[in-house]
Amino acid sequence: MIITLSVIKADIGGYVGHSSSHPEVIKKGEESLSNALKKGLLTDYHVTRCGDDLELIMTHQHGEDSDLIHKLAWDTFVDCTQVAKKLKLHAAGQDLLTEAFTGTVKGMGPGVAEMQFDEREAETIIILMADKTAAGAWNLPLYKIFADPFNTIGLVIAPNMHTGFSFEVHDVKLSKKIIFNAPEEIYDMLVFLGSPSRYAVKAVYHRETKEIAAVSSTQRLALIAGRYVGKDDPVCIVRSQGQFPAVGEILEPFTSPHIVEGWMRGSHHGPLMPVAINDSNPSRFDGPPRVTALGFQLSSGKLIGPRDLFDDPAFEEARCQANAIADYLRCLGPFEPHRLPLEEMEYTTMPQVMKKLEGRFEDL
Ligand code: F6R
Ligand code: MG
Ligand code: MG
Repeated sequence: MIITLSVIKADIGGYVGHSSSHPEVIKKGEESLSNALKKGLLTDYHVTRCGDDLELIMTHQHGEDSDLIHKLAWDTFVDCTQVAKKLKLHAAGQDLLTEAFTGTVKGMGPGVAEMQFDEREAETIIILMADKTAAGAWNLPLYKIFADPFNTIGLVIAPNMHTGFSFEVHDVKLSKKIIFNAPEEIYDMLVFLGSPSRYAVKAVYHRETKEIAAVSSTQRLALIAGRYVGKDDPVCIVRSQGQFPAVGEILEPFTSPHIVEGWMRGSHHGPLMPVAINDSNPSRFDGPPRVTALGFQLSSGKLIGPRDLFDDPAFEEARCQANAIADYLRCLGPFEPHRLPLEEMEYTTMPQVMKKLEGRFEDL
């Protein structure tokens, strides 16, 4: 059975501040998708949140980039924004950058990750969702999952993974893409993946079967809006088991919290902390950035689950480590490398401060 899995997300209002989501907003989202299910537009859905982001997980038969599905997501966000406005939640409608729907949610604010595939005998999928960070946050984990044998032993000892994976990498500033083959091109590829604010892994494919293995949202809100409008808070879909990495191989990179950009005012580096959905409430200095993971089995497009995969004491140590890293970075206050470098601040106060001081800079 050919099925499309679409994860479309937006921050349409925070509770309290930008720290979490209000239950009534989620309820509204569920209502909206439940109606779509009744009308036969969806095969199944699951509505959840990561911090202040509303996450619509949908299966359907309309393919990727379907205007029907994108419109459904857009209308759902608009309806949820009404609830957020009624409750006067913070920054209601923040990620809806345009007034009206124009055929796709791409470039309009919401984040999108979609993949179409032929559902396997057992189709295990994991949806990774992050808050208070940007699209490049998946670079390091996706590299480890699909190219690092120290993380994914299947690359070495599973005959159906041994040929490796190819990575589609996007230059999010110049809107260009390139495909790298792992393992033979990993040195070239890492030149780019190591700069996640500019280059982001959009998709990963199995080299032999050409099947889609992972897809992420790479929208950069600030680049779309031309000003600071919050961080992108990206999502990523990863297929698991069989010819793809096992569940444990997909979760393993998150046992050592890597440093991502985002956190307070989207302007800081901080550790990505793996947490259960219920703990995705970034409140310390509006963070530290969080990652959540929901696992499902697909059964003829029905989402069997979710299992909250970071709801596991085995990630306790990673959370402690993330807190220790957070303590240390916070000591640096407004100094780099805690605060982002100037180029990344160009959408915050930088232009105004520069303008104000323009006349006072003298030649040396
Ligand atoms: C970061 C984030 C928060 C806000 C901060 C100020 O992505 O959402 O750290 O930037 O709370 O929020 P405003 O400007 O909405 O008062
Ligand atoms: Mg927010
Ligand atoms: Mg958010």
